[in-house]
Amino acid sequence: MERKAELLSMFKVTKSFPGVLALDDISFELRKGEVHALVGENGAGKSTFIKILSGAHKMDTGGSICIDKKEVEIKSPSHANQLGIYTIYQEVTFIPHMSVAENVFLGSEIIENGLINHKKQIEETSRMFEEFGYPIDPTRMAADLNVAELRMINIVKALNNDVKILILDEPTTSLTDKEKNILFKNIVRLKNNGAGVIYISHRSGELKELADRATVFRNGKYVDTVEMADIKGLDDLIPLMIGKEVQNKYPKAKAPIGHEILRINKLSRNKFFDDVSFNLHSGEVVGIFGLVGCGFEEVLGSAFGVDSYDSGEVEIFHNNKMQPLRKSSTRAALDNNIAFIPRDRKTMGLLMNLSVAENVVISSYKDFSQKIVNLINSRKVQNTADDYKKKLNIKTPSVKTIVETLSGGNQQKVLLARALCSKGEVFLFNQPTAGVDVGAKIEIYEFMNKLTKAGSGIVIVSYELQEIMGMCDRIVVMCQGRVVKTVKTEETTSDEILAYAFGYKN
Ligand SMILES: Nc1ncnc2c1ncn2[C@@H]1O[C@H](COP(=O)(O)OP(=O)(O)OP(=O)(O)O)[C@@H](O)[C@H]1O
Ligand SMILES: [Mg+2]
Repeated sequence: MERKAELLSMFKVTKSFPGVLALDDISFELRKGEVHALVGENGAGKSTFIKILSGAHKMDTGGSICIDKKEVEIKSPSHANQLGIYTIYQEVTFIPHMSVAENVFLGSEIIENGLINHKKQIEETSRMFEEFGYPIDPTRMAADLNVAELRMINIVKALNNDVKILILDEPTTSLTDKEKNILFKNIVRLKNNGAGVIYISHRSGELKELADRATVFRNGKYVDTVEMADIKGLDDLIPLMIGKEVQNKYPKAKAPIGHEILRINKLSRNKFFDDVSFNLHSGEVVGIFGLVGCGFEEVLGSAFGVDSYDSGEVEIFHNNKMQPLRKSSTRAALDNNIAFIPRDRKTMGLLMNLSVAENVVISSYKDFSQKIVNLINSRKVQNTADDYKKKLNIKTPSVKTIVETLSGGNQQKVLLARALCSKGEVFLFNQPTAGVDVGAKIEIYEFMNKLTKAGSGIVIVSYELQEIMGMCDRIVVMCQGRVVKTVKTEETTSDEILAYAFGYKN
């Protein structure tokens, strides 16, 4: 096979933050027309690396970057754009009270006679989405869109440029197969036009499908670059990524199933879900599976009280019997030992400018205040947070570090630590392993085993069918806002679950 021409090369790239050497002497090469995957554990340095390329971070002195064999100094994000480098970041960014079109043209508004030409912006946005293969009404408010649609806005916006190098940092988080396929088609189109693509993901399936080569980072260091054609799958790279073999990706330990602890009874919320019923027992893991927009994320939010619902009831085991839980009250949920991991760690979950420790204890502050003076016992907070740092292997210089500076996967672990810290008996987990690496996923699964062994129950909502099949005792499948099937995991197959989720079977 003819070797493709070199497009980008980076030599001796180093980046240090206070207390952290995020990248240590990394070299990397990207060819024209290739998709190059970047893989490694949480905190390995992947996002930092691409942020240097996208102009968001400056590297330390001593390194160099060449594009088309010419050395460049990337001064800022807009300078990176001028060089043809566009980035889709790990976090979805949007302004909620602006329309799709306004979000797309944010920062590059079409101005005529000193005014924004909204009509033109709307037309242009329509055209861009049509071309991309994902029609959307450009006048809809961003606040009304789901995460998948918001992510698509970020992607379409970037691809509307003359892209030489496209960087995607975990772009498929919360995309369904439909959106993923559209995205992949566009990536292939770009690659066939000679662009180079750097693709970060923790999902092995999609990398096998898309990538030509993969480079592994570990602890800020370069480990190896492999041709995807030479390996069976990304699982072959796990030992390189985490420095050890993995025996079982889904180490489910069955716990004794006890009495009922949560009952969702004919819950309905206009436009989101309708007549949803399922229950959960002590020691049990119930998985809810469906496609993006099926309403399962909203069910979880309504059950916990972050959102409301129109009719139905949530019941919880309390004082030896099932009792209704007060509606729309996260306080009532927390007081009844329900713990929740929200969907999106950035906008709904973490308080980004507070420390790791503060984020861990925030749902259970009252356990940390001294009775008489109601002052926070900061030693206890620190010790608890240190404990979770150890248990969940959270990579941070200290629990006093501001959460914003942690890597994506490590932020996810902080969110999990918070849910665990709030002493739940019922755990409602919305995509608990989103953006978490293989090793850490297993640690989280093992933690789930511990919770069920101690008698807790877990409801987990996830778009990863393998995870649902691998870790749940029962599966509830939702399609278009309704429960279409509830089944014991051992009595079903992935194909059957998918058929229900797609609405082929009911
Ligand atoms: N702005 C910052 N200030 C301080 N430390 C930072 C900052 N950004 C990243 N780091 C640290 O650099 C290291 C690498 O983080 P990075 O976000 O690049 O990891 P990653 O490989 O993208 O991980 P993930 O898979 O979890 O997203 C981490 O230890 C992180 O805490
Ligand atoms: Mg990252």
